[in-house]
Amino acid sequence: MTKVVAFNGSPREKGNTSILIRHMLEELEKEGIETEEVHLGGRVARGCTACMKCFEKKDGHCVYDDDCINDCIDKMVEADGIILGSPVYFTDVTAEMKALIDRAGLVAMANGDFYRRKVGVAITAVRRSGGIHTLDSMINFLLFSGMIVPGFPVLGIGKEKGDVDKDEEGIRRARDAGKTMAWLLKSLEQAEKS
Ligand SMILES: Cc1cc2nc3c(=O)[nH]c(=O)nc-3n(C[C@H](O)[C@H](O)[C@H](O)COP(=O)(O)O)c2cc1C
Repeated sequence: MTKVVAFNGSPREKGNTSILIRHMLEELEKEGIETEEVHLGGRVARGCTACMKCFEKKDGHCVYDDDCINDCIDKMVEADGIILGSPVYFTDVTAEMKALIDRAGLVAMANGDFYRRKVGVAITAVRRSGGIHTLDSMINFLLFSGMIVPGFPVLGIGKEKGDVDKDEEGIRRARDAGKTMAWLLKSLEQAEKS
């Protein structure tokens, strides 16, 4: 079964990023795609330490196994589609999302780029400024990992938990991105078969 895993870099478990992710996942589920949302908040111990042990060991994992990153890597390898979601923190992704990008990204490079040809989408929740830069940070990871990235990254506006639900255009974009991701995954599946 086709599967999409979404990583939420917000420390707020049911905040605006999660709401946007849920709208996307609902559209994917309508198309029979299995989904999972993974919260990074409170579960990431460190960023990349540049120890380069992943290039020595080449075992598909980060040498630091005391937090959720190796579990996230396994989920990414298994999935057909990957959603990265982060609120804007000082015009960029959260520390949790950056740790996932750097550690999961380097491990993939050390192991033959194992996310290549998966479908990747980025989403962000923003109060006022820095949304595009935050999306760029996540999209660069998706592209430099060899993933296929459809148009219309998702940006929802809100400050307090739940505010994003009032951003009608942001919700519409999230739903549309879910539909597009489902369409692309199914098209790629068909192409593989033929
Ligand atoms: C440490 C911190 C830094 C933030 N920096 C920005 C920022 O640079 N620009 C902005 O528009 N909002 C900023 N915000 C607001 C959040 O992006 C906004 O509240 C978002 O909706 C939170 O999403 P969440 O509910 O998923 O955590 C910041 C919030 C925090 C806690």
